[in-house]
Amino acid sequence: MNVTGVKPDKSAIITMLTTTPAEELYRQADQVRHDAVGDEVHLRGLIEFSNICRNDCLYCGLRRSNKTVKRYRLSEDEIVETAHRAATMGFKTIVLQGGEDLHFDQAKMCRIIEQIKLLDVALTLSVGEREYADYKAWRDSGADRYLMRIETTDRDLYHKLNPGMSWERRHECLLMIRELGYELGSGIMVGLPGQSVESIAQDLLYLKEIGIDMAGIGPFIPHPETPLTCETGGTLEQALRTMAVMRLLMPDINIPATTAMESLHPQGRIMALQAGANVVMPNVTEGEYRRLYELYPGKICVNDTPAYCRSCISLKIQSIGRRIGQGYGGHKCHKLEVRN
Ligand code: SAM
Ligand code: SF4
Ligand code: FES
Repeated sequence: MNVTGVKPDKSAIITMLTTTPAEELYRQADQVRHDAVGDEVHLRGLIEFSNICRNDCLYCGLRRSNKTVKRYRLSEDEIVETAHRAATMGFKTIVLQGGEDLHFDQAKMCRIIEQIKLLDVALTLSVGEREYADYKAWRDSGADRYLMRIETTDRDLYHKLNPGMSWERRHECLLMIRELGYELGSGIMVGLPGQSVESIAQDLLYLKEIGIDMAGIGPFIPHPETPLTCETGGTLEQALRTMAVMRLLMPDINIPATTAMESLHPQGRIMALQAGANVVMPNVTEGEYRRLYELYPGKICVNDTPAYCRSCISLKIQSIGRRIGQGYGGHKCHKLEVRN
């Protein structure tokens, strides 16, 4: 396998997702990861700053129809203080993630971004679909990266799972974000009800086609307070296979070992790091907010502290002979790694 990636051929992808022996696939992805991006694992400090959302995605515990959730949003000061503590702990990237909470309007987000950028960190936003003017203002304020999963490229499935939303609009947002010069992260969930292996292969081709810099791939885990509670959900193997194939298709992008993988298996993130992943996003949110940001049940680390998690994941990374990246850990295609 070379570092330019395997040919994007749909039937070959389907074979890798289904019949190639898993260990063989993981070994190839691990080798390609080693050759293309090296042995560093980049840590991103994840701040879950609001669990309030205007959307009603059928899979998500934060959907607006879930009346059992105690809702919260951090204040601007709390967000900046949390980012400051994370930077002091050594995180070189901060990720601000939340529901689509319009309380955080363009100007508020700009103020938060400007203050966090004083901490000498790269800043990733993950706040869903907004207007072009918002994306532009936030980029102008210093945001470096944006994460928004396309979730699935099966339009019919997307529209069933995301009432009131449009696949075309989400796709358009991703193109705007890329055009504004953000490093673009996207990805999918695997194991969605009605999702076929052909559709997952199509998803991977789509992610390659739009030229993402980061790919987040996680298993769908059914939440009891959603309409999908009785569905089966994705398996760790399905998620690892999909992630490994993504690595083979796009050798030098950043790929996180996702939290949802570890929620299915105590060593899920380590297994992912040995099957193509090179990023981990430890939670740096404080106190009860960790528990209240419940996208799916069984989320890890809800009773732990940011410092504990940082040391826990560092030890795990070292135990497999890898080292923690000391830089911002951007995609190497982006020459200007981070704007200060
Ligand atoms: N609201 C923003 C958005 O939807 O893009 C960002 C936050 S959203 C909670 C982050 C991701 O969580 C979604 O893109 C989705 O893939 C994932 N997610 C939501 N519900 C999930 C579930 N039940 N199982 C696994 N992942 C889930
Ligand atoms: Fe809101 Fe994102 Fe959850 Fe959908 S996945 S309900 S947009 S937080
Ligand atoms: Fe949170 Fe291990 S990363 S306890």
